[in-house]
Amino acid sequence: MSNEMKNVLILGGSKGLGLAIKNELGDIALSISRSDEIKVDLSKPDSLGIVKEVIQSKPFDTIIYCAGGGPHGDYFSKSIQSHYWAYQVNFFRPIEIADYLKSISFKGLFVYVGSAIAERSNSKKSLSYSISKKSSLLALLSMPEESLKVRVFSPPYMNTGLLPKHSWPRVEAPELVLETKEVAQALLSWLGSSQLNPSGGSDPRHFDWIKRFTYSLTERKEI
Ligand SMILES: NC(=O)c1ccc[n+]([C@@H]2O[C@H](COP(=O)([O-])OP(=O)(O)OC[C@H]3O[C@@H](n4cnc5c(N)ncnc54)[C@H](OP(=O)(O)O)[C@@H]3O)[C@@H](O)[C@H]2O)c1
Repeated sequence: MSNEMKNVLILGGSKGLGLAIKNELGDIALSISRSDEIKVDLSKPDSLGIVKEVIQSKPFDTIIYCAGGGPHGDYFSKSIQSHYWAYQVNFFRPIEIADYLKSISFKGLFVYVGSAIAERSNSKKSLSYSISKKSSLLALLSMPEESLKVRVFSPPYMNTGLLPKHSWPRVEAPELVLETKEVAQALLSWLGSSQLNPSGGSDPRHFDWIKRFTYSLTERKEI
């Protein structure tokens, strides 16, 4: 697959992986989030209006949905609102955006950042997160390619604020926790960006570890 990027919109590019992607792309990337210049709270259903306006403001060829999160802990020790938040941010917003892009016959690429671990396990400590991420993967990959070009990229653990300090990988297996720069380069390499420094983005090792963790890399395989 090759996709020349000229205008990229990152939903949730103020921190973590989204910021690392933005740093790799430089001026061609625009990020919107709760703390960017263009503010949007994707947990709120009415944020879709802002997202639509931004999408209409520039000829974006790639839209990357990076925002995500959810409560960590025993399900009923967490508020229902926090679970609602997780479903809104991880599932409803990206699905609504994909539906909107389909309705305007968007010709670019919509990329959803999934989670290799969430898609493969139902960790009792992060049920609403895992299930909403997995639901998005299944729903998005069921979209016919002629309606919208969708890719789901599902990284493993990353060293960001989202991964709790006392979580298993941080404590027991820090070697499994990747830096966002490496993951961002792997994602852009996969998307065929010409923006990358070839010594970074085209490193075949990126593909080795992604293959170990994600079937999403293989695009629209039956799942
Ligand atoms: N970290 C991991 O171990 C890991 C592993 C696999 C997959 N992932 C996935 O990777 C993606 C990026 O995660 P990350 O680890 O980079 O997390 P992060 O460091 O917490 O960054 C999340 C980004 O999403 C934005 N965001 C969060 N809630 C938002 C909201 N309600 N409205 C608008 N923007 C919002 C944040 O911006 P503001 O706070 O400024 O709004 C921030 O830019 C997520 O989809 C996550 O599920 C993470």
